[in-house]
Amino acid sequence: MTELAAQAGRSSAAAPEAVPAPAAGGFPEGFRFGVATAAYQIEGAVHEDGRGESIWDRFSHTPGNVERGETGDVACDHYHRWAEDLDLMASLNVESYRFSIAWPRIQPTGSGPANQKGIDFYRRLVEGMLERGIEPIATLYHWDLPQALQDRGGWGVRETAERFAEYAAIVGDALGDVVDRWITMNEPWVVAFLGHVEGRKAPGVRHWPTALRASHHVLLAHGLAAQVLPADGLVGLALNLSPIRGDDAAVRQDGYLNRWFLDPVLRGAYPEDMLGLYEGVFGPLDAIRDGDLETISRRVDFLGVNYYNPMRVRTNAGDLPLQLELLPGEGQVTGMGWEVDPEGLVEVLVRIRSEYRDLPIYITENGAAYPDADPVDDPERTAYLAAHLDALRRAVAEGVDVQRYCVWSLLDNFEWEHGYDQRFGIVHVDFETQVRTPKRSALWYRDEIARVRGK
Ligand code: FCB
Repeated sequence: MTELAAQAGRSSAAAPEAVPAPAAGGFPEGFRFGVATAAYQIEGAVHEDGRGESIWDRFSHTPGNVERGETGDVACDHYHRWAEDLDLMASLNVESYRFSIAWPRIQPTGSGPANQKGIDFYRRLVEGMLERGIEPIATLYHWDLPQALQDRGGWGVRETAERFAEYAAIVGDALGDVVDRWITMNEPWVVAFLGHVEGRKAPGVRHWPTALRASHHVLLAHGLAAQVLPADGLVGLALNLSPIRGDDAAVRQDGYLNRWFLDPVLRGAYPEDMLGLYEGVFGPLDAIRDGDLETISRRVDFLGVNYYNPMRVRTNAGDLPLQLELLPGEGQVTGMGWEVDPEGLVEVLVRIRSEYRDLPIYITENGAAYPDADPVDDPERTAYLAAHLDALRRAVAEGVDVQRYCVWSLLDNFEWEHGYDQRFGIVHVDFETQVRTPKRSALWYRDEIARVRGK
C-alpha cells in the first residue's frame, strides 16, 4: 500500500500550477492502459449461484424496452469464461481491468448477509487478474440494482443509498486485500435521468421529481460508501462528461449533465443556477438534507471520466425544465450517432483541473461502436482510439494528471436498450458460439502499449 499512499500524497500536495513532465509515451509516471466492462453487459448466468433479480433483468424482459427483445441472460457468458477472457487481456498487454460487481450476486435482495458464492466469483476473478499482472479496478454499481430495492422505491428513496453503503462495506471487507481501486458509481447522470426522466434505461421511470431525488441519492450513496471502503485503497466515481456546444441553452445542459455532479463531488455544493431552475419548476428539493453535501464531497481520491462525445443543444422554450432540445452530432459520427471529437476530451479534462481541482484522473471509459463492414477489420474504431489517446497526451502536456485509460470495451456486449447490435468491443464476440476474436483495433492497442513500454 506504500505505492498507493505515495500516489495519494503526491496528488494532494501538487500545486495546481505545477505541470509534471510526462514520462513514457507522453503519460505520467504510473500511468496504465486498461479495458472496461460491466457485469450485466457480459456475465450472463443470471440465475446462477444465488444471484438475485436486478432492475435490468426486469427491464429487459419487459417487452418494448430493448431492441429485438434482447436481454443479458447469456451475454458473453463471462461468468463461465472469465479465465479465457483474462488470458485474452494478458495477450493484449492490458495492464488494468475495470470490471463491475453485480450487487444482486452479493446481496440477492439488496440487504442482509453476503451470498458467499457471489463473493467467491469475484475473488477468483480478481486473483486471476493479479496472477496475470493485471490491476483490478472494481466498480460497485454499474446499473444493476437489486429489483427488491426497486420495489421499495429504488434510487428515489434515501434508504437505497444506505443499503448501498452496507453492500460496499461487505465487498470492501471481502476483497479489500486484493483490490486497491474502487469506483462507487458509474454515471450517476445516466442512472438518475436516463433511468427516471427519459425511461430509456432501467427502471424505466418517467418522472422529473423522482429523477432529481435519485440524482441526490446516487451521489449520497457514493459519499456513504466512500466512508466505509478500505482506508488504504483509493476511491472515486465515474462521471460521464461532455463539452456542450450551442446557444444559451448550453449553460443549462452543462448544468444538467456536468455541473450537477461535478459541483457536489468536487465543491460540496449543487450549482445555484440549476437548483433555482429545478426548484422553480418542481418546488423545494427536500431530499437534500443538512450534511449530505459534506458526505458527498469528503472522499474522492481520483475522478473517473467516461468520455465519448460532445453534445449539441438549442433553446426550446416549451420544453421544461431545461428549455432545450438536443441536436444531432455533426461531422463524423459513430454507430450510435455520437459525434467524434477527441479535442472534447482535452476540454473536459483541462476544465476539471482549472475550474475544480487538480486530482488524479482515470479515463474509465472511451471507445466507439461502428457497424463494422467486416467483423474484425475495424479501421474506424482504431482511428477513434488512436485519436483519443493522442488527445489524452495533449491533456497531460497541459498538466492534467491522467493515471489510467480504459477502453470501452474489451468485448462486444449487451449495449443496454440497443441490445447486441451496437458493438463496442475491441474483441469480436460471436454470440452464437461465444468465440472471441481480437479485432484489428485490439491488435493495434496491444502494439501501442508495447511501443510505449519499449517492449
Ligand atoms: C456508457 C456505459 C457503458 C456503455 C457505454 C457505451 O454510458 O457506462 O456501460 O454502455 O456507455
